Order: sequence, then C-alpha cells, then structure tokens
Amino acid sequence: MLTLFRLTAAALLAAAATAQSYSAPNGTLGPDAEGKYEIFAEGIRGLFIPYGASIANLFINDTNGIERDIVLGFDNASHYSVDQFHPHLGGVPGRYANRIKNSSFVIDDVEYHVTPNENQGKDTLHGGLDGWDYRNFTVVAHTTDSITFSIVDPDGKEGFPGEVVSYITYTMTPNTWHIKMVALATTKKTPIMLSSHTYWNLDGFANPDTPTALNHSIHLPYSGQRVGVDGILIPDGTILPNQKYSVNDFWSAPKQVGANHTAPELLGNCGTNCTGYDNCYLVNRAQNGPYDWRTAGPVATVESEWSGISLNIFTDQDAFQVYSCGGQNGTLPIKSTQGIDDRPRVVEQYGCLVLEVQDWIDAINQPEWQREKKQVFGPGDEPYVLEAAYEFSVKS
Ligand SMILES: *[C@@H]1O[C@H](CO)[C@@H](O)[C@H](O)[C@H]1NC(C)=O
Ligand SMILES: *[C@@H]1O[C@H](CO)[C@@H](O)[C@H](O)[C@H]1NC(C)=O
Ligand SMILES: *[C@@H]1O[C@H](CO)[C@@H](O)[C@H](O)[C@H]1NC(C)=O
Ligand SMILES: *[C@@H]1O[C@H](CO)[C@@H](O)[C@H](O)[C@H]1NC(C)=O
Ligand SMILES: *[C@@H]1O[C@H](CO)[C@@H](O)[C@H](O)[C@H]1NC(C)=O
Ligand SMILES: *[C@@H]1O[C@H](CO)[C@@H](O)[C@H](O)[C@H]1NC(C)=O
Ligand SMILES: *[C@@H]1O[C@H](CO)[C@@H](O)[C@H](O)[C@H]1NC(C)=O
Ligand SMILES: *[C@@H]1O[C@H](CO)[C@@H](O)[C@H](O)[C@H]1NC(C)=O
Ligand SMILES: *[C@@H]1O[C@H](CO)[C@@H](O)[C@H](O)[C@H]1NC(C)=O
Repeated sequence: MLTLFRLTAAALLAAAATAQSYSAPNGTLGPDAEGKYEIFAEGIRGLFIPYGASIANLFINDTNGIERDIVLGFDNASHYSVDQFHPHLGGVPGRYANRIKNSSFVIDDVEYHVTPNENQGKDTLHGGLDGWDYRNFTVVAHTTDSITFSIVDPDGKEGFPGEVVSYITYTMTPNTWHIKMVALATTKKTPIMLSSHTYWNLDGFANPDTPTALNHSIHLPYSGQRVGVDGILIPDGTILPNQKYSVNDFWSAPKQVGANHTAPELLGNCGTNCTGYDNCYLVNRAQNGPYDWRTAGPVATVESEWSGISLNIFTDQDAFQVYSCGGQNGTLPIKSTQGIDDRPRVVEQYGCLVLEVQDWIDAINQPEWQREKKQVFGPGDEPYVLEAAYEFSVKS
C-alpha cells in the first residue's frame, strides 16, 4: 500500500511541476562527510539533511563577494538527533505548524486530542513531541540542483487522525531557493499545515558591529492585519489592525526589526514578558484583483545593509509569521561556517529571524475564519500544497 501511495504522490508531484522539471533519482549524489546533501545554482548553494527535511546551510555571496552562511543549523547532520535543544532549526514543522489551542480540535463533530508539548501541557506546538521536524525523512531524489524528501506520518501519530504522505522538494535556480510541499491525507480527514522554519541571519553572524538581526529591515506590503493571541501565543479569534507607525506596522514602509525596540507596547507583543515579534501577519492581496503569486511581488522583503544581502519571498500562502528570536539566550551554537573571531560562537538574543510562510495559525479552532478548505484534508480531496520562492540579490 505504501508503495502505491508513494507512486501516486510522486506522479502528482511530477504532473504539478510545470516550469521546473522533476528529476527522478539516477545517481548517488551525497550525503557528504557531515551527512548533508548539496544542491546549487548560479549564486546560491544549499545543504539539506533528512532530519526534518531541514536546510542546514545556505551560502550567498555578500556585497564584497564573501560567501556567507545565512541560516542556522548544526555542522554535523547527526547532531540534530542528539541535541535536545534544537528549536526546529530549518525544518518542516508538521503535520500542523504553530500552536493548537488546548491540544484539541473537532472534525465532523469528533473531538481529537493531540500531544501537548508546550506551556505545561496547555497547547501543541509544531505537531507535538515527535513532530515531523524531529524525524528523518527519506531522500527520494537528489540531483545537483534539486532534492526531494518524503515522510509517511502514520494514523494516530501524536494523536492526529489518519495517515499523511508528504513530499518536500527544494530546487535551486540562479539566486533562488524554491520550496514545494505536497501532502495527501490518505485515510481520514485531518488538519495539515506546513511551513519552512528557517532561522535567518543575513550577515552570517559576521557583522562586527552586532551579533543580532535587529538591524535587518523587513517589509510586508500586504500585511495590514495580524492574528490576535493570548499571553502564550494562542489565537483568541480576533484579527487586529497593524496601524500605521505602530510597532507591528511593516506594511506602510520597510522598517528595521529593532526600530521600535524601546516602544513600551513592544513588551508583551511576542507573549507575556516577551519583547519583540512572534506574530502571524495576514497576507491580504485578493482586493487588488486576480494575481499570480510568482509574479505579483513578494509578500516579504528582508535586507541587511551590512552584508548587502536582500531576500524577496514569494509564496502562495495567506499568512507570514515573524519571530525575532527573543527566546534565544546565547546557548545555541553557530556553525563553523559563521561568525567572527573574538566573539562568542553562539546565537545571542535577537540574533536571528524566523520567517514562516504558512496559513492562518490555529484556524482549525476558529471555524468562523472559514479556512477549512485550506487546513483540513481527507482522502479524495485536492492535496495540501505550499509553494514559495526565496530570491536573493546583493546591493552594490
Ligand atoms: C542523471 O542523468 C542525467 C541525464 O542522463 C545526467 O545529466 C545527470 O548527471 C545524472 N545525475 C546523476 C547524479 O548521475
Ligand atoms: C559527523 O558525525 C558522525 C556521527 O557521529 C561521524 O561519524 C562523522 O565523522 C562526523 N563527520 C564529521 C565531518 O565530523
Ligand atoms: C562566491 O564567489 C566565489 C568566487 O567568485 C565563487 O567561487 C562561489 O561559487 C560564490 N558562491 C556562491 C554561493 O555563489
Ligand atoms: C536520523 O538519521 C541519522 C543519520 O543516519 C541518525 O544518526 C539519527 O539517529 C536518525 N534520527 C532519528 C530521529 O531517527
Ligand atoms: C480541552 O481539552 C480537554 C481534554 O484534554 C477537553 O476535555 C476539553 O473539552 C477541551 N476544552 C476545549 C475548550 O476545547
Ligand atoms: C543599526 O541601525 C541603527 C539605526 O536604526 C543605527 O543607529 C545603528 O548604528 C545600526 N547598527 C549597526 C550595527 O549597523
Ligand atoms: C517605529 O519605528 C518607526 C521607524 O523608525 C517609526 O516611524 C514609528 O513611529 C515607531 N513606532 C513606535 C510606536 O515607536
Ligand atoms: C512577567 O514578569 C513579571 C515581572 O518580572 C513577573 O512577576 C511575572 O511572573 C512574569 N510572568 C510570566 C508569565 O513569566
Ligand atoms: C537558555 O534557553 C534554553 C532553551 O530554552 C534553556 O534550556 C536554558 O536553560 C536557558 N539558559 C539560560 C542561561 O537562561
């Protein structure tokens, strides 16, 4: 049965691929000595690992032609399974990203309970204790510019109903990292929401003036609203305005992450006693008429003046989570490919940004948002699909 599902999904993936061609495995590229699989194109080189289908390194040349590794990860792929303290580094949170209120939800009048793993058992984060980003995916294809991972998530795992089969494909074209995630619910109706939980520091932690990302600028041109949450970041059903010049205004103009760092209202903005950002911004662009997400402009632009590296994020997703790493405290190591001499080789508080393309968080517990078609899938439904392109340029 498994083989059949895999073939079905692979065929589907192949059929869905249009501009990019899907390559069947025909070689034994990788893994390298550190257990990583390389893919590359002009101006971009990425290393990936089966653990969580994670990105482990992303190399981009900065404004001075120096190669920077701009994502967090570990040097050795085997370390991910050993280290208990890895905050979902670069992986695919699944089968349901972000938080599930009360670790429960209702589908067709049946209440399901999933494993709580945060806030003393009050909620489920990123799919539970053994979510997808704690498991090894299977590498089903690897070429010089593309890699595809698969996972079969069994019925009942972490309390979720039904089996889910998923394929994650990463592809490089010049200066661009493409993401395509497909997931099929094969036996029962179940929630599915995926994302890429990549931690960014566009300076590769090598900016001599700051180990933080507070000087990175962010522009979210379609995000005048955000999801209202309680003190433990659980959506409370409200949709809030990001009023112009408020701390959450990233839509009216690009703004440095740290621009409003001393504004009193930034305290508590990422949960009780937390200063900074951990917010789900909505992406509203249907009002401008029909659009093609590949060409209609990025949902987010993130830049660092120091490295000159600029990132445009294009996606078909309707929300965008920004986390400014307020929870980092100098214990997570950076990689040998990052940092500078004479500074601790760790991630300081605010040292990174997590930027997550996704759907509206915990919509499975907010039926009035009417997002069931985007988040609940059963056998015979269209597959869950997430697509994104991360396009880099360098200011001269
Ligand atoms: C796969 O086959 C193609 C076409 O024959 C070839 O160009 C490519 O180098 C092969 N890849 C590997 C990894 O062998
Ligand atoms: C990575 O870790 C594995 C397992 O501990 C080890 O066998 C391997 O030598 C390590 N690779 C490098 C380059 O350190
Ligand atoms: C960075 O520039 C060097 C020198 O031109 C080149 O060899 C390398 O491939 C570039 N790195 C990337 C990621 O494009
Ligand atoms: C994932 O695979 C690596 C390399 O084979 C292995 O060391 C590790 O124990 C595996 N981790 C899990 C969670 O299965
Ligand atoms: C919360 O979960 C408990 C059991 O874990 C359940 O009994 C209760 O109905 C749930 N409450 C809500 C409001 O969903
Ligand atoms: C960060 O930006 C602020 C202005 O917002 C500026 O005063 C400061 O010098 C910058 N720091 C670095 C290290 O670039
Ligand atoms: C936030 O920073 C921006 C840019 O410096 C500024 O225009 C705005 O007034 C600040 N807002 C608050 C609430 O401090
Ligand atoms: C928040 O900080 C206050 C003042 O330090 C403290 O009394 C309170 O216990 C903290 N609350 C939480 C949830 O950490
Ligand atoms: C830093 O954060 C980690 C992970 O949350 C935690 O285990 C550790 O105790 C913290 N260390 C300090 C010094 O606060």
